Amino acid sequence: MEERKLETSYIYFKDINELSEADRELVLSASNALQMSYSPYSHFAVGAAVRLDNDEIILGANQENAAYPSGLCAERVALFASGMHKAKPLSIAIVAKSDKGQFATAYPCGACRQVMSEIEKRYATHLATIVGLKDGGFVKFENISSLLPFEFEI
Ligand code: THU
Repeated sequence: MEERKLETSYIYFKDINELSEADRELVLSASNALQMSYSPYSHFAVGAAVRLDNDEIILGANQENAAYPSGLCAERVALFASGMHKAKPLSIAIVAKSDKGQFATAYPCGACRQVMSEIEKRYATHLATIVGLKDGGFVKFENISSLLPFEFEI
């Protein structure tokens, strides 16, 4: 028997100006996607933007449904739409706004992390993830294993 330990590393940016130009563009794209959120039940809007290796940006926003589990998170809307393109996903930015119009923290849920993990395997890529925080800062994870170290595998 042995105890094993995990370490996660990520970068904290105190505001959008500290991000690289490409990541700033991705965050602004995710913020624009907030307008397409359909969230009449939670009143919580989430926007996502995926950068492909041909520099295309694919948008997603959460899409809810009266039968609650039938809805889909912003990340998976964007990632599954990216699956319709031949180019490789390189990074994803996620932002969220509460019903009061204030920015909220937008860490992806477990189901989205599982999908992000499979995107990395499918395209043999590292999916960098930039997450908006409610204090106006951002965090960046260089790959999904920092967010989901033990993914489900078949
Ligand atoms: N939501 C996302 O879009 N992404 C996540 O990672 C977690 C939650 C959405 C689902 C629902 O429309 C709303 O946020 C409130 O849970």
